[in-house]
Amino acid sequence: MFWYHNQTKHSYQSIRTHPNQLSWHNQPTTYKNYPQEYKKQRLNMENTEDNFLFHIAGLSARKLYPSGESYLRINPSAGALYPNELYFQARGVEGLEDGVYHYEVRSASVSLLSSIDQGEGIEPYLGFTTPMKGYLFLVSAIYHRSAWKYKNRAFRYCLLDAGHLLASIEASALCKPHAVQILYDIKRDRLNRLFGFNNQEWFVSGASMAVPIRDEEVRAVEFVLPFVDGSASFEQNHLIEEAYNKTKELHSCKRMLQAPKFTYNKEKLLDAIYTRRSQRGFDKGAITKGQFNFIMDALTQAILSDCDADICVYAVINRVLDMPLGLYKDGEYLRYGDLAREAGYLCLEQYSLGADSAITFFLTSSDSNYQALYQKAGIIGHRLYIVAEYLGLGCSGIGAYYDDEVNTFVDNDAMVLYALAVGK
Ligand SMILES: Cc1cc2nc3c(=O)[nH]c(=O)nc-3n(C[C@H](O)[C@H](O)[C@H](O)COP(=O)(O)O)c2cc1C
Repeated sequence: MFWYHNQTKHSYQSIRTHPNQLSWHNQPTTYKNYPQEYKKQRLNMENTEDNFLFHIAGLSARKLYPSGESYLRINPSAGALYPNELYFQARGVEGLEDGVYHYEVRSASVSLLSSIDQGEGIEPYLGFTTPMKGYLFLVSAIYHRSAWKYKNRAFRYCLLDAGHLLASIEASALCKPHAVQILYDIKRDRLNRLFGFNNQEWFVSGASMAVPIRDEEVRAVEFVLPFVDGSASFEQNHLIEEAYNKTKELHSCKRMLQAPKFTYNKEKLLDAIYTRRSQRGFDKGAITKGQFNFIMDALTQAILSDCDADICVYAVINRVLDMPLGLYKDGEYLRYGDLAREAGYLCLEQYSLGADSAITFFLTSSDSNYQALYQKAGIIGHRLYIVAEYLGLGCSGIGAYYDDEVNTFVDNDAMVLYALAVGK
């Protein structure tokens, strides 16, 4: 097991001996904005491309508090801390000059960071040798946004949230006739330097929604960008830095060349993407077996990527009509019985999620390539959110669980990556 994962486990004891204390006066910002000198283009929802971009990471709900307001986004995030930033290269995309952009969430606009010529681009940093027509995305993590609350465990959340953002790209792209390939094997060091991240922000993955322009070669683009502070209260975390550095080179990657096949109605899917929210508790409602099968189909579809990992999906069946209660994996029951209360306990005693759901999921893996496998768990989690919303059900990611006790429950010694609950 990767040492970082081992050192950041929650246990019944650790939660009680190290309760999280938040310094509210130092709360990081969740928005990064490049200076006004960079050309900014506001997204126009009448334009197909802008609409596509907005449905990846746009603001989709406003919350009012006595102390002020905050916004929720198309993509969920542990604690609504949104540690990830989205960048992309557009080449031959209608309405966008060819160049490298930052997606500015707060103003729903894109900032042009650098123009590109025909023979240069970010392709070589992502493993491509020819120019790619379309979008090449890059996902970064400003880890302090999450570490402010979740301390050392935050690197896990940065990767899960990044996975959600990658699957958000995938979901928005389902409304267009293009497949998205996830790219984990990217040149992190060179890209981090190129973007001037100053070790406060790191690239963790990319995604391609582009086709090669044949018979041409492409050079790696070079530009100089200023450091732009994306947290406003950065504090270094040595453990997280070491975890990132130890996992930034990927080894023995297996490509996944099979594309997923979803049967969503596009209009209904677009609605689901926009209205998706996290369920704060379930009413113990049951779902049908048809819904269960539809959900499992969405979760087990292949994920096109340059570095696939094996992830086990365990389902605790609490309330599915015409299905026995128990622990289920890959079409088989590992254990029969009412395990709802136990599932709720394992989710750090969040009983209103883990026990009151129709199904509670636990995702585990023993693979190597930690950054890739953890983001894959986030992608599966996001697919669950989308399919649940599409079916009129609720979903919540659960990043807090008792690691070792989940292992005992599912009877394996793999890394426990994520828990999720779906229901009514
Ligand atoms: C990786 C991850 C872990 C999460 N863990 C929990 C959790 O343990 N408990 C909980 O109530 N919500 C959890 N959430 C839900 C977030 O709090 C929620 O996404 C965030 O507040 C934004 O709200 P929204 O999803 O409705 O947009 C998690 C979400 C993600 C993506």
